[in-house]
Amino acid sequence: MKPKVLLALPPPADVLARIQRECDAIPSGQRGAFTKPDLLAALSDVDGVLSHTRVPFDAEVFAAAPQLRVVSNFGVGYDNVDVAAATRHGVLVCNTPGVLSDAVADLTLGLIVALARNVVQTERLVREGQWGRGAAMLGLDLKGKQLGIIGFGRIGRAVAKRAEAFGMSTCFADQFSDAPSGYEYCAYRSLEDLLRESDFVSLHVNLTADTAKLIGARTLALMKPTAFLVNTSRGGVVDQVALVDALREGTIAGAALDVLEREPPAEGDAILDAPNVILVPHIGSATKETRRAMLDLAVDNLLVALRGDIPECTVNPEAVARA
Ligand code: DGY
Repeated sequence: MKPKVLLALPPPADVLARIQRECDAIPSGQRGAFTKPDLLAALSDVDGVLSHTRVPFDAEVFAAAPQLRVVSNFGVGYDNVDVAAATRHGVLVCNTPGVLSDAVADLTLGLIVALARNVVQTERLVREGQWGRGAAMLGLDLKGKQLGIIGFGRIGRAVAKRAEAFGMSTCFADQFSDAPSGYEYCAYRSLEDLLRESDFVSLHVNLTADTAKLIGARTLALMKPTAFLVNTSRGGVVDQVALVDALREGTIAGAALDVLEREPPAEGDAILDAPNVILVPHIGSATKETRRAMLDLAVDNLLVALRGDIPECTVNPEAVARA
């Protein structure tokens, strides 16, 4: 009998056909439609899930899924999954690292350029008949500015390479590493020193208990009043209330956010009216090529796990010992 898989995102026909060669697939609605009650109702006889980073897998969900062997996330992040609970239930959790690093790094540099050159404000001036007028016309050079990268994994390093090409100096803070070889131009700093020194601060950490609200009132106060914050990681890494205060009070000069604490933001969320902030809708990995590569990798992970092997991109290979 073929394993049964739940598809929490609707794959294109060729990918669906590939899955169906080895599995009985339960098609989903739209991406994002899965809530916890949906999962509790759907998982009682399911062996694998092709998931995404907004589907919540907690201990209660795993307890309701006795046959489940793999959650294959379409995304590098996996903060939607209680990995310890997955491991206890013998469920492998897989993700899609690597294939999206360039796309996220490209967007990060795009946001840095947009902040430095007032791209969003000046675009508005054109539409308002104010061509060439106003203080926003004059931006800042990136050459010679310092970029502080918090989290120096694959994406942080891809950002450093690009910033180097723009003539920026770069430094990084990372809880796991203080001297990655091949990146000698990017100096290690403590988090505090990085925040004090940098003209731009860019976040590239996973959301964990250690990094939740890493950027809050205390850390924002360390930044220069002329500095900018860029977040293409997870909204929960920034205390958004503290950020709105910092933007209103001029503690920092501005921010660009691809991710928010709540996505999409609630109507009337203070971040929507905060000054000097650029907001984009979690598009870090959203290019046609990258999204396809992520899907192919997520499906590889799903099928390898259902064949009884441990996919390379497994977050908790120790779960097999519990299966
Ligand atoms: C990821 O891969 O984690 C991105 O945020 C897309 O969801």
